[in-house]
Amino acid sequence: MCGIVGYHGDGEAAEKIYRGLKKLEYRGYDSAGIATAGNPTIKVSKGVGTVEEASETGLDGSSGIGHTRWATHGGVTQDNAHPHVSHGEKVAVVHNGIIENYRDLKEDTLSHVEFKSDTDTEVIPHLLEKHLSEEDTIREAVTETVDMLEGSYAVSAVLDTGEMVAFRKGSPLVLGVGEDELFVASDVTPFLEHTDTAVFLQDGDFLVIDDGYKVYRDGEKVNRPEKKIDWDAEQASKEGHDHFMEKEIKEQPKTVKKAAYQDKTDMQEAKKMIENAEDVYLTGCGTASFAASLGAKYLREQGIQAKAEQSHELEYRSQEVTEDDLVIAVSQSGETADLLSMLEEVQADVMAVVNVVGSTLARNSDHRLYVNAGPEIGVASTKAFTAQIAVLRLLSKVFEKSLEDARKEILETAERINETIEKNRETIEDMSRYMEDREHVYFIGRNKGYEMAREANLKLKELSYIHAEAFPGGEFKHGTLALVEEGTPVVSFLKDRGFEHAYSNMKEAHSRGADIISVGKKSVEESRFHIDIPDDPNSEILEIVPFQMLAYKTSVRKGHNPDKPRNLAKSVTVK
Ligand code: F6R
Repeated sequence: MCGIVGYHGDGEAAEKIYRGLKKLEYRGYDSAGIATAGNPTIKVSKGVGTVEEASETGLDGSSGIGHTRWATHGGVTQDNAHPHVSHGEKVAVVHNGIIENYRDLKEDTLSHVEFKSDTDTEVIPHLLEKHLSEEDTIREAVTETVDMLEGSYAVSAVLDTGEMVAFRKGSPLVLGVGEDELFVASDVTPFLEHTDTAVFLQDGDFLVIDDGYKVYRDGEKVNRPEKKIDWDAEQASKEGHDHFMEKEIKEQPKTVKKAAYQDKTDMQEAKKMIENAEDVYLTGCGTASFAASLGAKYLREQGIQAKAEQSHELEYRSQEVTEDDLVIAVSQSGETADLLSMLEEVQADVMAVVNVVGSTLARNSDHRLYVNAGPEIGVASTKAFTAQIAVLRLLSKVFEKSLEDARKEILETAERINETIEKNRETIEDMSRYMEDREHVYFIGRNKGYEMAREANLKLKELSYIHAEAFPGGEFKHGTLALVEEGTPVVSFLKDRGFEHAYSNMKEAHSRGADIISVGKKSVEESRFHIDIPDDPNSEILEIVPFQMLAYKTSVRKGHNPDKPRNLAKSVTVK
């Protein structure tokens, strides 16, 4: 939620920040703004809507900050758009997260200040300005300010002198170190085109930038390593596709292969952790939770006690997860608040299955397997999901065969992704035309078909805004069947295992007039549409791809932007 970019260097700050914000738009697109400093005052441009609202014109200066917002506190208005400027116009601030005690701060410490917005964020520039006037150094002023803030935040601020500060707790913040320039950002994508060197700030760290940069913690200077990032700028661009989502769907033959190339030692360590654990909990949120749920099923097939639960619910049972257990945390961003907050409550060791290198989850876990999908910019998760499945499948298969043999199978599956797309191309086109004016769609599946139903359902509804629900096939007849009328679309995953029962559940819907969309190795006579899936031991990877395309095409057909579905943001850093 919300994207932050800061720049300090030899270039035109506003231009660099604007370009950086375009890369972070996936984190929020309710409003946007830029502030630059120097010559001699702070200048701000902001507005409601996408980054285009933050015009760079008239913003001179070689240091500054920018923001793209996903609203939490305060409506989507010009006044609530970031940056927020202190009353004496000495400091401008952008923020990602929530300041929980902002009401108390407004009423007590800042009671003399006239606030211009309804946001929690606005307390930060006022506090910084107050402490800058009271303390001798910027370092002391930031320490005092941070001490007063409760909640989660990644903050970047520019002072009218051109110096910058940044601090984080619970929300991500990365420093990009270029030649004669420094970037502060929510993730590495805004600065990849300028530098591949990054410093990942830890919770509680703060940065002061003047001629160079210094990292502090509890007021003391600390050393944080500069790391090389192996993602390149190319990966974070659309490369001729209309949308990132389309590009990311098509990248999957490549990304699934990359996911399968897990390091042998990392896999051995992961296997050992599973063997030594009493219970294994797989968890995540949204799409990642469906991958986690599939992962638990894969591990159970190997006789391992694996359970799956969405992180926000598992938190309520955190006392049951003991130090003898293992939590496998699945996340694309590694910044999802519901997941991180649950992990703080449990005693068990944590193994991350994560995409974003250097993310909070990656850093705070006892062991990590990177899914290596590269930057996923489209808000709806696609290539990260199939990469998560590939890694979890590999992890389960090493209990029955060598890593090389398990990998070979996944590489073969990756080869069949394009075949799956080609086989179903026309059907997907026809289906998206058919879906365009549907009001309700149901997805059913049994066993692993249930996770497929849930993910296909989520993709369609989050992008097309059509009401859709997913059920275990066996559950559908226990009430929901009442909603099936003549022409109601019912998508039925017909997998080999449990085919007979899944087929019966589909028939129950068909005999009440449903339009059946079947998914599996062979068509059935009841199908209005059939999605043909090649025979494959890792068929889950193949089954989801046509539904990613269906969701994408239906979204475009309905005039929506599939990269930026309404009311969603890429990394959900609030609970
Ligand atoms: C849906 C989607 C979300 C995310 C969820 C978890 O397409 O992308 O449901 O899967 O917000 O995000 P991560 O994987 O970053 O923890």
